[in-house]
Amino acid sequence: QYWTAERLNLPYDQWSKASVDQLKTKVRDSKWRLGYHIQPESGLLNDPNGFSYYNHQWHLFYQSFPFGPVHGLKSWAHLVSPDLIHWQDVHQPMIPDSSNDRNGCYSGSALPINDQLFLMYTGNIWDNGVRKAKQNGAFVNQDNQITKLAHPLIDQPSEGITGNFRDPQIIKHANYYYAIIGAQTDNRRGEILVYRSKYLDHGWYYYRKLDIGTNDLGYMVECPNLVFIDGRPVIIFCPQGMSHKHLKYANKYPNTYIVGKDFNWDKMKFINPSKIQQLDNGFESYATQAINAPDGRVLEVSWIGMPDLEEPDAEDGWTNALSLVRELSLDGEQLTQKPAAENKGLSDHELKSINGMEVPKQCLLDFAPTENKGSQFAITSGESHLLIDVDDDNNRLTLHRLNKNGNEEQRIINMDTAKVSDCQIYLDNSLFEIYINGGEKLMSGRVFFSHSVINATWIDCQAVELTQLKKLN
Ligand code: FRU
Repeated sequence: QYWTAERLNLPYDQWSKASVDQLKTKVRDSKWRLGYHIQPESGLLNDPNGFSYYNHQWHLFYQSFPFGPVHGLKSWAHLVSPDLIHWQDVHQPMIPDSSNDRNGCYSGSALPINDQLFLMYTGNIWDNGVRKAKQNGAFVNQDNQITKLAHPLIDQPSEGITGNFRDPQIIKHANYYYAIIGAQTDNRRGEILVYRSKYLDHGWYYYRKLDIGTNDLGYMVECPNLVFIDGRPVIIFCPQGMSHKHLKYANKYPNTYIVGKDFNWDKMKFINPSKIQQLDNGFESYATQAINAPDGRVLEVSWIGMPDLEEPDAEDGWTNALSLVRELSLDGEQLTQKPAAENKGLSDHELKSINGMEVPKQCLLDFAPTENKGSQFAITSGESHLLIDVDDDNNRLTLHRLNKNGNEEQRIINMDTAKVSDCQIYLDNSLFEIYINGGEKLMSGRVFFSHSVINATWIDCQAVELTQLKKLN
């Protein structure tokens, strides 16, 4: 076995440049590479981190293990963009090189402070086989150089909380900085803890639990984000081991949200919280990071992947990707997720759409089911496919995925299918995002077709439109 514990934890400066270059060459030849989504140049990508707008550009980091397609010692890769679609890696990652993060720079967030960008992240530490966590800080300057603070901002509480204490989201409200942190109690229950400080680089103390109206948050909460849409609080989080009694989800780990009518900052409490809902009804979507952007929009980006999953791209030395950036809005207690307006810049040209035709590897397929009649839309390749079945008899929309390995899986949305008026599929070779009714529902994931030619076919659909999208990578 190549990935021994020693290799997974080898300090970054002990990997030779030649071995990384060799891996990058192999990755470039992979037939699963994406055209317009963020993907790793080599190795593994997971959570989006530090999404922010600073120094006249967007910044987005991600959890990275650049030496192989496995969950090894994590760093933060750093990308910048003028427009949320063209992303460039600045090649100055934040690497785990301090005693406060020696077993990984885990997930976190960013906040512009004066002329610097402040990062808050979790230092993962293994101490004689026991996991420990520290919440650390770092500043990014205008040349994208990262300087870590020498002292942790928040130590793991000495009692009550295990070393699963991570993924701080830093936000500012009135006179305080707040950190919203995912945690696990000693009796293995998930919680969201709030710390605060007046000073940012010191003076942090435990404030309260975040009260989102339910105590059943599985055995661990990962990646909590609190955002405000039209003044209403929305918490987006991953409650691992969440009971199926409260939420029927088919993925191994759920990616969820709760909306409140209002928020009480003194009590850190949601007023009239909604029930918990799924953020994405597809196969792979996790660790979403959402922000109140300075332009007034609420933006989100997700990991198109899942913990404990091995995909065929890993055979080529890389794995996983990030979603398009999406804009969030509220419709009652439901989140609507649309690709951010900038994604229109991905459109290349319109193609004539003929049933059964071959489609480009990077394309946008837009279709509407015929009124009051079941309809199907499929992207097929040899015996593999991605198929959307709108079943009006049972008010059920089913996404079927048959990968090249012959593995057939489904994800189902129970909804009023008569109201399904518009579906958009962003296809990017081995990744898809399906927006139903302008983002009322979202289904994302990967698809590994058996052949290189892919065709679009449909039954009882109207106004099918096909747009070739740009290849940016
Ligand atoms: C979620 C997660 C986070 C953690 C990071 C480590 O996918 O487990 O909780 O900070 O990944 O890479």
